[in-house]
Amino acid sequence: MNRIIKKIAVLTSGGDAPGMNAAIRAVVRACVYHNIVPVGVYEGYKGLIEGKIREMNARSVANIIGLGGTFLKSARCLEFYHKEGREQAYNQCCEHDIDAMVVIGGDGSFTGAQLFEQEFNIPVIGIPGTIDNDIYGTDVTIGYDTALNTVIDAVDKIRDTATSHSRLFFIEVMGRNSGFIALNTGIGAGAEEILIPEAQRGTESLLASLERSHKAGKTSSIVLVAEGGKVGRSFDIADVVKEKLPDYEVKVTILGHIQRGGRPSCQDRVLATRLGVTAVEALLEGKKGVMVGMSHNKTTFVSLSTAITKQNQIDNHLLHVADIAST
Ligand code: F6P
Repeated sequence: MNRIIKKIAVLTSGGDAPGMNAAIRAVVRACVYHNIVPVGVYEGYKGLIEGKIREMNARSVANIIGLGGTFLKSARCLEFYHKEGREQAYNQCCEHDIDAMVVIGGDGSFTGAQLFEQEFNIPVIGIPGTIDNDIYGTDVTIGYDTALNTVIDAVDKIRDTATSHSRLFFIEVMGRNSGFIALNTGIGAGAEEILIPEAQRGTESLLASLERSHKAGKTSSIVLVAEGGKVGRSFDIADVVKEKLPDYEVKVTILGHIQRGGRPSCQDRVLATRLGVTAVEALLEGKKGVMVGMSHNKTTFVSLSTAITKQNQIDNHLLHVADIAST
C-alpha cells in the first residue's frame, strides 16, 4: 500500500547547476498547492545526515527563480555511499516526519537516492540537474542550456582576439565524461575542431585537420576540448601541436567553474518549473524510484536504475554536421 504523503523534502546534490533554485521553488509551491508540507534540506545528503532540515512555505522561495546556484546549497557526500550514513539520514527523516523526497542532481545523487529508497522505503523522485546533460532518460538536464549560453559567449569573445592575433586557441569545457557541451557549443561557435570523449579521434586526426585549415587559408582557429576527452587535457594537446605545427601560435583557455554559475536561461527556468511540479504530483500519485525528465517536450519518467546505468548518447549526426560546417 502506498504511504500517505503529508510532508515532502527537497534537496540539491552534486555539482550545482543554474535552474536548481527554480526547481526547488516549483517543488515547494506544488507542495503548498496540494496541501503538503514542504521541507528544505540544506547541503544535500550531508545536510540530511546532519539534520539540516527546515520547513518551507510559498514565501520561502520568493524571488529565487532567476538566481544561479542553489540556495539550499549542495555537496558531494561520501558518507551517503555507506549504509551507516544512509541509516543516519533515515533517522532524520523519521524525526522530521518526512514521507517522501525529491532529489535534484546527477547520476551520483540518483545512485544514493535509489539505495535509500530500497533500504528504507521512503519514496524518492529524481530531477536531473547538471550542466553536463549526461543523464539517460531526458532530452535535457537543468542547467545545460544556461551553460551552453555561458560557453558560447566566452568562445565568441575568444574568437575576437584569436582572429586579431591569428592564433590557435584550445578552449576546454566541462562535461565530466561526456561531450554535449563541447559538441554543441563547438557547432554554435563555428569551431574548427571539436574533441569529445564519445568520438574516437586521436592526435593524428587533429593535426591533419589543423593542417587542412591552414592550407584552406584560415589564419586563426578554435578547438573545443571536452575535459574528459581521449586525446587528453587541453594543455597536453597544445604541447603536441606546438611541437608538430610550429607555424601556429597556440593558446589555451580553460573555462572552468564559470560554466556552472550565472542566472538561468528562460529555457532552464521553464524546464525546472515543469519538472519540479511534476515530481511532486508524481509522488502524490504513488510513483517512486523514478526520475522525471523531458522527451520531445513532454514530461516523462524513467526508473532511477535505468537513468543511472544507461548512457545518454550524443547524436552522431551532429559530428557529421560539425565536420562539414567547419571546412
Ligand atoms: O558535473 C558537473 C561538473 O561541473 C562536471 O562538468 C565537472 O567535471 C565536475 O562537475 C567538477 O566538479 P567539482 O565542482 O566538484 O570540481
